[in-house]
Amino acid sequence: MTSTSGNNQNPSAEPHLLPAADWWRRAVIYQIYPRSFGDASGDGIGDLPGITERLDHLERLGVDAVWLSPFYPSPQNDAGYDVSDFCGVDPLFGTIEDFRELLERAHAQGIRVIIDLVPNHSSNEHPWFRAALAAAPHSPERNRYIFRTGRGASGDVAPNNWESVFAGPAWTRVGDSDQWYLHLFDSSQPDFNWSNADVRDLFDGVLRFWLDLGVDGFRVDVARGLVKAADFPDYPVEYQHAHGFAPDGTRSPMWDNDGVHEIFRRWRSIVDEYDGERILVAEAYVEPVSRLARYVRPDEMHQAFNFAFLAAVGAAEIRDVIDESLREYGHVGAPSTWVLNNHDNVRHVSRLGSANPRIPNGVGIGPRDLQPDHEVGLRRARAVSALMLALPGSVYIYQGEELGLPEHTTLEDRHRQDPTWYRSAGTIAGRDGSRVPLPWIADAPAFGFSPTGASWLPQPSTWREIAADVQRHDPDSTLSLYQSAIEIRHRQELGDASLRWLDSEGDVLRFAVGPIEVLANLGEEPCPLPAGHIVLASADIADAQIPAQTTVWLLRDASAVEREEEKK
Ligand code: GLC
Repeated sequence: MTSTSGNNQNPSAEPHLLPAADWWRRAVIYQIYPRSFGDASGDGIGDLPGITERLDHLERLGVDAVWLSPFYPSPQNDAGYDVSDFCGVDPLFGTIEDFRELLERAHAQGIRVIIDLVPNHSSNEHPWFRAALAAAPHSPERNRYIFRTGRGASGDVAPNNWESVFAGPAWTRVGDSDQWYLHLFDSSQPDFNWSNADVRDLFDGVLRFWLDLGVDGFRVDVARGLVKAADFPDYPVEYQHAHGFAPDGTRSPMWDNDGVHEIFRRWRSIVDEYDGERILVAEAYVEPVSRLARYVRPDEMHQAFNFAFLAAVGAAEIRDVIDESLREYGHVGAPSTWVLNNHDNVRHVSRLGSANPRIPNGVGIGPRDLQPDHEVGLRRARAVSALMLALPGSVYIYQGEELGLPEHTTLEDRHRQDPTWYRSAGTIAGRDGSRVPLPWIADAPAFGFSPTGASWLPQPSTWREIAADVQRHDPDSTLSLYQSAIEIRHRQELGDASLRWLDSEGDVLRFAVGPIEVLANLGEEPCPLPAGHIVLASADIADAQIPAQTTVWLLRDASAVEREEEKK
C-alpha cells in the first residue's frame, strides 16, 4: 500500500484512531439508508445530521464501519440512485459541511465511512444528459451515454428486446426521432457509455473528491452492469436478468461482461494511492461464486456482497454457500462477506416467515400477498443471524436488522414510491417495505425517527414494541443478541479465524471458529446440546437441548483449541 497522505486534505478525518491493517477483512459494516435512519430537520425524510446524532447507537452496537446509500443531489426518482451531481449533497439530506461533520464524528467514534458510488447511470437531470438530449445524434455529448438507432422503417421500434430491471422496456425514444437511449433501470436513469474517456475521467474525479474528504471506501452500485456486450444482441427475456448462466450455457449480454474488470483495476490503483486502506465493495448479482470472485482479485475490488448467502434457504444450502464462498474467495486471497438484508430485498424476518422464502430481490410483499408469520420468521431470522455473525470474513448488517425489524408488508398502494411499482403497473409491490423509517423511541412521534412525527413512509403501529429504546435494556431482545454477538466476534477475533465443520446430523450445522463452537439447529426438531459454556443463544435453552430454529455459541475448552493450533 503506497501512502500519499498529501492527498488527504482533512487531517482530522484521518482514521488514525481506527483499528489497523486489513481492517476490512474482518469488519462488521452497517448499511445506513439515509432517508430512513434519522430525521433531524423534521421534514419526514432522514438526513445527515440525523445520522450524526445517532452514531452512539452504532458505537454501542460495535460496528467497524457504515455504508451510506446515496445522499447526492438527485430528483429522487429511485430514492437517490438517480444522481444529478456526483460530488455534492442533496439539500434534502443536508450540506457538504454536514457530511464532513458526520465523517469526523464517526471517525472519532472509531467508525469508518463507506459511501455509494453509482457509476452505471446518472439521472436524466444530470447536466451531461441534458446536454446529450440537446445535441445532435452521434455528437460527443450523446456518446457519453448509450444512444442507438431504432429498428423498423422509421426507427420507431426499440434497438433490441432488452427489458429494464424495473420492468418495461430498457430503451426510451428521444421524441419522435429514430434515436433511443438505454436505461437498464428507470427511464430517468440513462446508462453511461463506459468506453467513453469523459465518463472514465468523470469517475476518477468523483473517487478523488470523496477520498480527499476522507471517506474510507465505496460500495459500487450495479458493478456487473457497466459494460454491455458490444453488439447489443437480443436475448431471451426470461434470462436477461439472471444472475448466472442460462440453461443453454450463455450469459445475459447486459451483465458481467469481462470489460468491467479493467474499470475496477483503474479504481483500485486510485484508492491505493490513499492511506488508511480505502476499499471498494462490489454490488454484483453474479453467480456462481467463482465468477463473482473475479471482482475481488488482488488488483480489483476488496469485497463483494455475498447475495448467494442472502438467498440460501435451509441448512444444506447455507453450508454449501459457506463452503463455496470460503473456497472461491480464498483462491483469490479475498475475505468472504456475509449479508442477509439490504434496501432491495425483503427483510429476512419476513422472508423466512413466508411460505415462499425465495422472494427475488426487488419484488417485495404487498397487502394482497400471503402474509408472513412474524413469530416464525423472527425466530428463524435470529438463528440465521447468530450463525452469520460467527463466520470468518466481513459481515454486513442493514439498518433495523439489529432490531429484528420485519418488512412492512401491508403498506397501502398510495404510499409506494419504488419505480418498480409504477413500471410494473402495480403488479410488483417493490422495495418500499424494506425502507420504512426506523423506530427509535416507543413513545415519541414517528417512534423517534423525526421530531415532528413526519415520516415519508408510514411505520406500522406494532413497531412500538420493537423500538430501539425498548430493546436496549432487554437482554433477550434482538438488539442485545446482535450486540453480544458482535462483541464476542471482536473479542475472540472470529473474523480472522478459520472455520472447521464438526459432525452433525439433519438440519444442524456445527462448526468451530477460533475458540467458539457454533451449533445452528435450523430444523424443526430439538437436538442435543453438547457440554460446554454457552456464550450466546438465539432463543431460550432448557433441558440440555437446542430447540428448533435456534443457534448457540459455546466457548470451547482452551486446551483443545491449543492442541489444534499445535497440530496446524
Ligand atoms: C442497485 C441499488 C438499487 C438501485 C439500482 C439502480 O441495485 O441497490 O437500490 O435501484 O442499483 O441504481
